[in-house]
Amino acid sequence: MGASPATPRVINVASVPHRSPFRYPGGKTWLVPYVRGWLRALPRRPHEFIEPFAGGAIVGLSALFEGLAQRLTLGEIDEDIASVWKTILSIQGERLALKIASFEFTPESVKWWLSQRPKTLFDRAFQTILKNRVQRGGIIAPGAGLFKRGENGRGLASRWYPQTLRRRIGTITEERHRIRFVAGDGMALIAENARRNDVAFFIDPPYTVAGRRLYAHSNVDHERLFRLVSRVKGDFLMSYDDCPAIRRLAAKHGLQTALVAMKNTHHSIMREALMGRDLSWLGEPLELGNDALFEDIKGNRGSGRQALNGSLECGQV
Ligand SMILES: C[S@@+](CC[C@H](N)C(=O)[O-])C[C@H]1O[C@@H](n2cnc3c(N)ncnc32)[C@H](O)[C@@H]1O
Repeated sequence: MGASPATPRVINVASVPHRSPFRYPGGKTWLVPYVRGWLRALPRRPHEFIEPFAGGAIVGLSALFEGLAQRLTLGEIDEDIASVWKTILSIQGERLALKIASFEFTPESVKWWLSQRPKTLFDRAFQTILKNRVQRGGIIAPGAGLFKRGENGRGLASRWYPQTLRRRIGTITEERHRIRFVAGDGMALIAENARRNDVAFFIDPPYTVAGRRLYAHSNVDHERLFRLVSRVKGDFLMSYDDCPAIRRLAAKHGLQTALVAMKNTHHSIMREALMGRDLSWLGEPLELGNDALFEDIKGNRGSGRQALNGSLECGQV
């Protein structure tokens, strides 16, 4: 099936509880309301929700904590990110929460931690959380710069919320018997679970363009990923930057594509592509309210179509 026009509902991210310890570049907090709609529309609730490209895992955590699945499996190839999930889900989880809460945050102590080569998984996890909070855009990949001015003149500390982080980590550790983390290639995780019909996958690979800047691991064989996904027994939802080559891959594998609107951190409206076997649960566009930002999308579904025919650049796929 071909692509459907843009869905002009713009999600207010403030309506989604933040459950992840990460502020994640390319994070999908804004997608959570769509994922709720998708999972509720399934004939059966999945027993297990699998997020093979987990990053900050906001979607998977939301599905678990909102009772939309009984178990959660996260996959991630980046060893820094993996160190955080492994630690939180081990008996060291509480210790990490305490370490964050009691850390004496000064420019010197931060720089000291960032200059270290961590010797233990625990130290690596702490260093990763710190990098995620003091580097611009939450980017953990090598080359990311430190905050200078930050928010509200708070400089380096402008995203350091130790008590909030402690609480979020504490909530996750309480549920760790229901959460599994698998380090390594997300495609292997999909393949291992391909024959199960009691699972649902949320697949959010690195952006084809910006991925190179945002993540240490951004090379994904998209052709292989689509081949794999189109054969899984469980249902799935994929999220991509909108790009013609990816849309062609989706069409080739008989998947539907819909463009959805999101507001980025600069409050401009962006479009992202969702792909799945049947996106009819996306339904009719909802009311947009009176926000002027929505006006160019509202009543002009052609803007979506334009993007669909478009000459948008995208990275190598
Ligand atoms: C778009 S981000 C995911 C963001 C996540 N959905 C969130 O809301 O925080 C893609 C993630 O895939 C990871 N990744 C890249 N290649 C991978 C692979 N082959 N297997 C598993 N994870 C991979 C990257 O490190 C990055 O964390």
